[in-house]
Amino acid sequence: MPNAVVVGTQWGDEGKAKVIDYLSERSDVIIRYQGGANAGHTVIVDGRKFVFHMVPSGIMYPDKVCIVGNGVVFDCEQFFNEIRDLGTHGVSVTGRLFVSDQAHLVLPYHKVFDRASESHMANGKIGTTGRGIGPAYADKALRRGIRVGDLRRFDDCVNRLKENIAEKKFIIEQYYHQKFELDADEIIESCRSQAGQLAPYITDTHQYLFAMVQKKKRLLFEGAQGTFLDIDHGTYPFVTSSNTVSGAACTGGGVGPSAIDHVIGIVKTYTTRVGNGPFPTELSDATGEHIRAKGAEFGATTGRPRRCGWFDTVMVRKSAHLNGLTRLALTKLDVLGELSDISMCTHYEIQGKKTDSFPADPYLLDSARPVYETMPGWKCDLTGCKKLSDFPANARRYIDRLQQLCYSIPLLLVSVGPDRVQTIEVEAI
Ligand code: GDP
Ligand code: IMO
Ligand code: MG
Repeated sequence: MPNAVVVGTQWGDEGKAKVIDYLSERSDVIIRYQGGANAGHTVIVDGRKFVFHMVPSGIMYPDKVCIVGNGVVFDCEQFFNEIRDLGTHGVSVTGRLFVSDQAHLVLPYHKVFDRASESHMANGKIGTTGRGIGPAYADKALRRGIRVGDLRRFDDCVNRLKENIAEKKFIIEQYYHQKFELDADEIIESCRSQAGQLAPYITDTHQYLFAMVQKKKRLLFEGAQGTFLDIDHGTYPFVTSSNTVSGAACTGGGVGPSAIDHVIGIVKTYTTRVGNGPFPTELSDATGEHIRAKGAEFGATTGRPRRCGWFDTVMVRKSAHLNGLTRLALTKLDVLGELSDISMCTHYEIQGKKTDSFPADPYLLDSARPVYETMPGWKCDLTGCKKLSDFPANARRYIDRLQQLCYSIPLLLVSVGPDRVQTIEVEAI
């Protein structure tokens, strides 16, 4: 398979990890390149379920190399929890899992700061995952972050850690008027012991990937979150703190754009969102609840119920622009199987005018009224389908129309269940 980036085209949880796992078989190296442990990536193999937050979702194949790239904010504790969990299931990561020396660390004070700043806000709470993502990227931008590679000379980090902790303590106590219960010495000692444990994983991953490109190895970049959570292009301020669009694979992986051949957009066949912010096609009724129950739409990181709504072609068209999508992977079509009628949003009406494009202006977006096309459902179970021709005519009509409204970008696959085998490949790359 040529080198490909996999990105979420909506607000995350599109089923990226399932597709990454599926495509890993025909890849050599799988790379996470942005975000952190806010990601909750579910892989189900032979009925066994794994939820990855830090470790790339390609790890289930024992001969694949997995990389946590420089653009990730790295949660060391979470990383070792996942390695332990994999170990208890007989999956060894020795010699095939590497972390960029340039990735920034998420430290306990980032998580405390994340939660304190959220709870301090009266209005406009983002609804973050509380995993310290925003504060860790903020320290990176402020040039006071601690990088994974810094752990190699841990004594040089101690003063910087002390300063960072004192600053966070001051803001949390004096500005947020909340208790700061962390102990600086404990943080420093736990970091020191993590530094020792992490040593065998720390790598100049850019150099490694450059060598892989030279050897024509197949790279698969694993996006986290989704396009509309992108800090530049998403529904700001209700976004995450990284660029989630495909271009971030270059900056966060350390490769040039010419190393990438394909961009695969993961498209859930309805829409979900966790956390706050605008959602034009949200269904706050029994249909929304039905989709949540059938799709098990509860956050893989926080367990929060995901908000559910109809498929929005306006959003996914914008995703196609921003990511340069070359293939679509449609997921969770099986979830819609019991509905009598299914709607998809074809365009919006904003201030009385029809528009085909997703506005960047939050005021316009708030006033957007979705306009729907409604089709009859198929009222049957798709989870056992093995090829597109097994689908009832109405299911075919639904995906054909969806694809047509998304610039007729070719379909890579259609997913009809959470398991690796419940995948119908349409047009391989
Ligand atoms: P990610 O963050 O994009 O990797 O997605 P999550 O893992 O957070 O959420 C997707 C959920 O849907 C997981 O529980 C998957 O096991 C599940 N899933 C993925 N594809 C399908 C599918 O085609 N059908 C069904 N029913 N579930 C799916
Ligand atoms: P995956 O990779 C869905 C959302 C949070 C919140 C906002 C900011 O599993 O698709 P943050 O903790 O990043 O500062 O929270 O972003 N969010 C996600 N929503 N899937 C994710 O990841 C998400 N990661 C962050 O709910 O609204
Ligand atoms: Mg998820």
